[in-house]
Amino acid sequence: MKAIRKCLFPAAGFGTRFLPVTKAMPKEMLPIVTKPLIQYGVEEAMQAGISGMAVVTGRGKRAIEDHFDVSYELDQQIAGSEKEDLLSDTREIMSRCTFSYIRQGEIRGLGHAILTGEPLIGDELFAVILADDYCVAEGDSVLAQMVHLYEEYQCSIIAIEEVPQEESFRYGIIEGETQDESVYRISNLVEKPAPTDAPSNLAIVGRYILTPDIFDIIRNTAPGRNGEVQITDALQSQAAQGKVIGYRFEGRRFDCGSVSGFIDATNYTYNKQNPQ
Ligand code: G1P
Repeated sequence: MKAIRKCLFPAAGFGTRFLPVTKAMPKEMLPIVTKPLIQYGVEEAMQAGISGMAVVTGRGKRAIEDHFDVSYELDQQIAGSEKEDLLSDTREIMSRCTFSYIRQGEIRGLGHAILTGEPLIGDELFAVILADDYCVAEGDSVLAQMVHLYEEYQCSIIAIEEVPQEESFRYGIIEGETQDESVYRISNLVEKPAPTDAPSNLAIVGRYILTPDIFDIIRNTAPGRNGEVQITDALQSQAAQGKVIGYRFEGRRFDCGSVSGFIDATNYTYNKQNPQ
């Protein structure tokens, strides 16, 4: 059984929907209460047994690297005070995980971002987390649930959820055959179709487990929606061979790529941490 050792975090996007805050700060560093979005993604990957974090960055993203590194001045400043506890999660992450980074020089779509990460992943099975899809679950993390499913199906797995049909233009939409209540064998995927063209109301959420043949497939995938190389289009080749499973996960997703989703996620998390 192949284990999943690495998780890729595409993080080169500009976060223009959050301007001006994202002018000098990576959108992945926006805080949900006191932790940046990308840290939740890293913790989710850790809960799935993954310790190799591979981040595709770009210009203006150095705060991400600094966040997962020691800060000697800060450590010294708070040593022995009750504030030390506030750094225990990041310290734990640093002791258990390795971080590697590569820069994406130009923004040419999610497929291109994933291909940019190939030197960090190599020829092995890997996961992808889009940090702005913030996922919460009561039990196993969403990615951990997908890892269990991989053990059964041994092919690419993508997270899906039902969305209102009129919002299909914001997502990759799948078509597939039900294997059981929450599992679909995908036959077709369309990136951001108009509601009238959407093959279903099942949308792709930013969690993927991908077999490494995807890199060659992406290399041969022509630009699609918005003139960008789409992972959704690349997955179509694997789906044609019955090798993509869609999984309706247990838990809840917040679209932190939008201001309202971000506010909902913040309120939800704050209320969870501070029950009335
Ligand atoms: C990307 C994918 C899309 C998916 C979405 C999930 O789009 O291309 O298929 O549904 O993530 O968040 P983006 O939101 O980056 O435009």
